[in-house]
Parts: sequence; C-alpha cells; structure tokens
Amino acid sequence: MNLDSISRERLDYVLCRMPKAELHIHIEGSLEPELIFKLAGRNNIELPYRSIDELRAAYAFTDLQSFLDVYYAGAGVLRTEEDFFDMAWSYLARAKSQHVIHSEIFFDPQTHTARGVPFETVISGLDRAVRRGEGQGVSASLILCFLRHLSEEDAFATLEEALPFRDKFIGVGLDSSERGNPPEKFARVIARCRALGLRLVAHAGEEGSAEYISGALDLLGAERIDHGVHCLDDPDLVARLARERIPLTVCPLSNVKLAVFPRLADHNIGKLLAAGIVATVNSDDPAYFGGYLNENFTAIFAALPELGAKEAYQLACNSFKASFVEEGIKQAWIGELDEFFGAV
Ligand code: HPA
Ligand code: ZN
Repeated sequence: MNLDSISRERLDYVLCRMPKAELHIHIEGSLEPELIFKLAGRNNIELPYRSIDELRAAYAFTDLQSFLDVYYAGAGVLRTEEDFFDMAWSYLARAKSQHVIHSEIFFDPQTHTARGVPFETVISGLDRAVRRGEGQGVSASLILCFLRHLSEEDAFATLEEALPFRDKFIGVGLDSSERGNPPEKFARVIARCRALGLRLVAHAGEEGSAEYISGALDLLGAERIDHGVHCLDDPDLVARLARERIPLTVCPLSNVKLAVFPRLADHNIGKLLAAGIVATVNSDDPAYFGGYLNENFTAIFAALPELGAKEAYQLACNSFKASFVEEGIKQAWIGELDEFFGAV
C-alpha cells in the first residue's frame, strides 16, 4: 500500500468509497426539510414555514444555541413510531450509500417525552430501523443522550423510563447546551449508568473549554469525547488523550456552521492527528450542517493541505478502533479497509 502515490483527484474517490464508521450523528439532526414537511403533513401539524426553501433559509446559525433552537423545533414533527423509523431508515440508507459500514447513533429522548411522546414509541421506531439495517449489511447501534440544559433529576427519570429497553441501546452520552452545564452536573446519573454496564461518551470542548474535557474524563469516566476540539488549549490534556488513546469524534462542517472555527481552513483536525490523538470525522447533524459523512471528509480534505491519503486511512482506521464493537469485528473491518487501500 503506497499511500504517497494517490493523487489529489483520486483522493475524493478514496474518501467516499473507503469503508468507515460514523460515531457522532444525532438522529434528530438527520431530519431533512423534505421529511419535516412530509411528517408535518402526515401528523396534521402546521409549520411556521410555507415551504421547504423557507425552512432551509432558517438554517443560518451563529452558535450552538441558535442551532439547538431550530433543531428542537424541527423534531416537533416526530410523533409516531413510524416517524422515528422513517427518520432512522433514511439516515441508514444514506450511510450505506456512502460506505459507512457501522454507525453509533445518538438520540435525544427528552426532546420527545417532554412533548408527550412515550419513550417506547421513540426507541421502538429507531430500533426497528437498526434491525432492518442489520439484515441489509448496515451495522448500527443506539446511544441515549441526556440533554445537559435539563436537570440531573430529569436525566435520572429518563434513565428509569429507558431501563425496560436496556437491550436496545449500548450507552449514554451528554449533549445540548454545553457552557454553564459542566460534566459534574451529571456525575451521579452517569455513575449509575456505568454501574449498569452502559458505554459512556460525552460532548465536551465543542464551545466549552478544555476543562470540560478533563471533567468528562475524570468525573464521568467518558470513554470517548464528542467534538473535543478545544483540547489543544491544554498541552497536558493533548498528551493524555494521545497516551490513553481516548478518541475524539470531530465534526468539521458542524464546527464551521456553529462558528467554533471561522473557516474549514482554520480547523485543527490535522494538528490533532499530528499530536497522535485518535481523531475521527463525523457529520453531527447532517441535515442542518450541509452534508453527511462523505461531504465532511471531502470538504475538510479540500481545506487542509496537510491531509492526504495517509490521513484518510488513519481516520477510517480510527473510526473502527474508536467504535464500541468487539475486538474481532474491529479487526475484520480494518482488514476490509486494508484490502480497499491495497486495491486503489
Ligand atoms: N452539540 C451539542 N448538542 C447537540 C449537538 C452538538 O453539536 N447536535 C445536536 N445536539
Ligand atoms: Zn453532537
């Protein structure tokens, strides 16, 4: 495998066709405007937008909170099990078309239970899509996220509602408004999740400081950090992430849309890789941020001259290593990746 011989032109093909995993995708963030209108029609919900274009025009974000307001409003069209199935199935079909052979999918139950949609409705629809994917060669699992702008008590109540469906999700995460909602706010509920054998991830260091990343590791026992791009402000933390091989699920298009970096050319993912961190590329909320996984890969590789075929291989390999599947499956997928790179 001579990675230096792959030309820039060939690189886009490689990025799009290589087998890879996606580990940071909020399923509610995959709800395309077309599907929002379709579900609104099906559920007799009147939207405050007259057309798909008018809705899309509202996707002009200045920071995380301005996005979250639109994202939670969009999720309001989800009412029935069929709605959750249709949303997850359209993501999985897209993932398959982009050679994403495994995904670990976040869902935000509190966004729905707060509107009177039962937890069972949410998880049953998502789980049915995941199982249908399994039958068609798309591997996926679900990670329940607690909304950090809500209380820890609310997270505990959500965990209780979720426990009868324990076999349908592999872990828990923390998402929503980061600043002002530090990891320690959820230390007790996450400790309970750990005791239940759930895998642990947390958004940290997206808008929040490097301290939120250290807090997620030390106070929550997070096994993987979502975003984490602010780690570069703390050299000791960078060294620790590299040494302990704690993966970061980085989302380039999201970071620019939410003004974490002014331009893709300013993104630090090349520096994270150079520092030896197990960084991965992900789409976060593809319907809102201008693209799915392949669009994230091609855009960031076009913007950063330090990214070439070697980094493409590294990022895909990292995505498998950072996943929560068993070791033998990881090795099989890395074998598929090696085979792909051996043939390009
Ligand atoms: N950050 C925090 N919460 C979220 C995000 C994000 O990027 N996307 C969906 N919920
Ligand atoms: Zn996210």
